Amino acid sequence: MEELQHGRSLRRYVATAWPEFDWERAYRGFYRDYSRFCVLGQLGPTPALELAARCVVETGTTTLYATLAPLSPEPVLGQLATRIKNDEVRHYGQFYHHFLGRAEAEGIGRSAVIRTLWGRVGEVKREDACYAFKHAFQAGHPERSFTDAEYRAFRRHYAPWPAAIIPTARR
Ligand SMILES: [Fe+2]
Repeated sequence: MEELQHGRSLRRYVATAWPEFDWERAYRGFYRDYSRFCVLGQLGPTPALELAARCVVETGTTTLYATLAPLSPEPVLGQLATRIKNDEVRHYGQFYHHFLGRAEAEGIGRSAVIRTLWGRVGEVKREDACYAFKHAFQAGHPERSFTDAEYRAFRRHYAPWPAAIIPTARR
């Protein structure tokens, strides 16, 4: 599974380049919080809509790594981020391909797809990204307590970056 390989590669990179960062603490905290959402009830109402929602997730991860790659202060992280980004683009293509087949079979309408996409965008913001940031923040700043204000400030600061950095986002 490529997502696990991504995690192992990033963990190895951080252990080498940023040994003072407590990866295990961040991972344990994230896993504890996020695994609560990894239940069947969180899936989309039909297979086609879940596949559409997965496209949102893959778009988000693609954007994250496409932004990180050119910002990397050294080439190893940049190359790693580029390789992961390419995997995420492929994941998107696979989910989209299967979505098209299932959507036709299920007769899914455009409004249901839009509702699903919008819902998953909200979940990524409230769950995936929020808990990832929270635990990375706490591991990087053990002397400070995490608040929602920290997450809002992070989002405000970095929200414009992908459009400014990824060349295709300007088109
Ligand atoms: Fe992926």
